[in-house]
Amino acid sequence: MRLLFIGDVVGRSGRAILAEQLPRLRLAWGLDFVVVNGENAAGGFGITEAISDEFLATGADCVTLGNHAFDQREALVFITRQPRLIRPVNYPRGTPGRGTNLFEAKNGARVLVVNILGRVFMDALDDPFAAIEREIEACPLGMGCDAAVIDIHAEASSEKQAFGHFVDGRVSLVVGTHTHVPTADYQILRGRTAYMTDAGMTGDYDSVIGMDKEEPVRRFTTKLPSTRFEPALGDATLCGVAVELDDKGLALQIAPVRIGGRLSEARPEFWE
Ligand code: FE2
Repeated sequence: MRLLFIGDVVGRSGRAILAEQLPRLRLAWGLDFVVVNGENAAGGFGITEAISDEFLATGADCVTLGNHAFDQREALVFITRQPRLIRPVNYPRGTPGRGTNLFEAKNGARVLVVNILGRVFMDALDDPFAAIEREIEACPLGMGCDAAVIDIHAEASSEKQAFGHFVDGRVSLVVGTHTHVPTADYQILRGRTAYMTDAGMTGDYDSVIGMDKEEPVRRFTTKLPSTRFEPALGDATLCGVAVELDDKGLALQIAPVRIGGRLSEARPEFWE
C-alpha cells in the first residue's frame, strides 16, 4: 500500500503547488491514500471550508490540523459536517469536530488517521501519550484498521521521537508537523513503524517558517510588532513523506518528498 503525507500547506503559494502537483503524483506514484496537513492553509492561519473542499477535490483523502485548527472561526462550524477534516484528538472534551477517523483507501484498506498535539513549548492539553494509547486500543492495527497514520503536531523533536518509539510496531506512520522544516531522520523504527520528526511545510522557504521574512526579523530584533504576519508568496516547495506498507500495515520503505521551490529535490525512488 502506498501512502503519501504532505506537510503543513502555508498560504497561497503552498496551495498553488499542492493543486499543481498532487493530482499528477497520485497517478504517477499510484497512491492509495494521501493525508495533507492544512492548518496554515488560509493566509497562514487555519483553514476555510472552501480550502478544505479544494484539498479533498485535488486528491487528499484526509486533511489534518493542529494548534491553528480554529483560527478561521468558520472551522468551528463546518468541521462538524466534514468527516475528512481531523483536528487534534487531545483538545478538551466538547471541542467541535473529531480527532480521528477511519477511511477507505483506494486499495480498499481501512486507514485510521489521528491528529494529536504535543505539549512541550505548546499549550497545555491532554496527555498525547495517554490519548494515543486510547485510540490504538479502540482501533488496533490488524484488527480495527489495516493502516494507521499519526500526525503529531508538536514543537519539540524530543517529544516527537519519544512518541514514535512509544507507538512503534503499533501504527504504520508517525510523522511530525508544525515546525515547518523537514528533518533528515526519516527511518523505519525497529518495530517497523515509519517515522519522520517533521515533514516540513509546503510553502515558500525564502521566509521564516512560511511567513514573509521582514516582520519576523523585525520582531526578533526590536521586540515590537509592527504589522501582521503574512505568508511569503514566492514559489513553494511541496514537502512530505512517502511510505510503502506491507499487508499488515507496517513499513517496507520510507522516503522524503521535496518538489519545487528552493529546497533540493527528493522523490521516492522505489515508486519512480
Ligand atoms: Fe502549527
